[in-house]
Amino acid sequence: MHFEFTEEQLMIKQAACDFAQTELKPGVIERDEHQKFPAGEIKKLGELGFLGMMVAPQYGGSGMDAISYVLAMEEIAKVDASVAVILSVNNSLVCTGLEKFGTEAQKQKYLVPLAKGEHIGAFCLSEPEAGSDATSQRTTAIDMGDHYLLNGTKNWITNGSTASTYIVMAQTDAAKKHHGINAFIIEKGMEGFTIGAKENKMGVRGSDTHSIMFSDVKVPKENRIGDDGFGFTFAMTLLGGGRIGIAAQALGIAAGAYELALQYSKERKAFGKSLADLQAIQFKLADMATEIEAARLLCLKAAWLKDHGQPYAQASSMAKLFASDVAMRVTVEAVQIHGGYGYVKEYHVERMMRDAKITQIYEGTSEIQRIVISREVLK
Ligand code: CAA
Repeated sequence: MHFEFTEEQLMIKQAACDFAQTELKPGVIERDEHQKFPAGEIKKLGELGFLGMMVAPQYGGSGMDAISYVLAMEEIAKVDASVAVILSVNNSLVCTGLEKFGTEAQKQKYLVPLAKGEHIGAFCLSEPEAGSDATSQRTTAIDMGDHYLLNGTKNWITNGSTASTYIVMAQTDAAKKHHGINAFIIEKGMEGFTIGAKENKMGVRGSDTHSIMFSDVKVPKENRIGDDGFGFTFAMTLLGGGRIGIAAQALGIAAGAYELALQYSKERKAFGKSLADLQAIQFKLADMATEIEAARLLCLKAAWLKDHGQPYAQASSMAKLFASDVAMRVTVEAVQIHGGYGYVKEYHVERMMRDAKITQIYEGTSEIQRIVISREVLK
């Protein structure tokens, strides 16, 4: 067992850290306040190879491993969790889905621009009445011979208005239940494709979350991913990897809030000494540091398993379950350490506390992670 990173992994971590500090930090409060999508920042991240991190270079990606992905996600989420989720959906769900399961033609047409960051992708599984219960898809894609006819509504779609390429799960044969679900590649602008209102969210407000409506959208047959009926397994397999990205995002939120609290506790004077000299604060910092380190190890373990071709669904759910709870606990404590200053926007930690909450909800709630883990341990 090695607890050391390679030089390349450390370089990627440093590059992500530098970008986050110099490019993301200056505008993060304003983007949160005004729900402003970080278009320029995402474009630059694309040019640096962060939109297709794990995609092979032959398809426009950076060919990095999952460990590097976790390291980069942590650094970015330390500063701007909205940017982290935009990257996570594009990298883990959309690019990986196309690279792993797409045809050569689908890869050339859709994956290459996504991996290069020229396009952004969205992953459309959730519906108004099918969130956690993902097998209950109401969106339908009827086989019309030479094309599918897509109808339905998707909810809570990250990159909803900024994406160009949407991977959409739909029911093609209700009698077959989840074996009748397929995944399709949909292009923005196809006739019958409409973007709904933007959600006014508690956190990750820089990311754009929308409902998406499909009304008689004609989907070419060649846009189905995988064999007929593969859509549910496709979505579940990808979410296994996606949860590593969200776990790393949660880790980053926690680590970012902890670093600010640590710095503040050294600077702020109370009762004639620094906050850091008070044992009440020292114990909080000790707990925060310990929990963050445990979350980090779970994230890295899941990534390591993925990199070594070993099953990682249980590990990724454990990482997400634990890291998202740590993000909540640590950000609440970071606000507490900052006292009244923690409650105002300039000090960043109140935003981090709001951002942390979504990591317990999307890509499977904490309850869903417990279902996945308990099924594995009871096998
Ligand atoms: N990998 C592959 N296949 C899997 C799987 C996995 N991890 N988990 C389940 N399956 C398969 C099962 O083997 C089963 O197939 P068979 O019938 O052929 O054996 C099939 O899927 C159905 O499984 P279950 O009977 O276990 O289904 P269920 O309804 O009891 O539970 C669930 C499944 C795990 C709860 C699943 O519905 C789930 O993960 N729900 C949460 C969905 C989710 O995470 N949504 C997030 C939306 S994406 C998002 O948030 C992105 C974003 O924008 C940030």
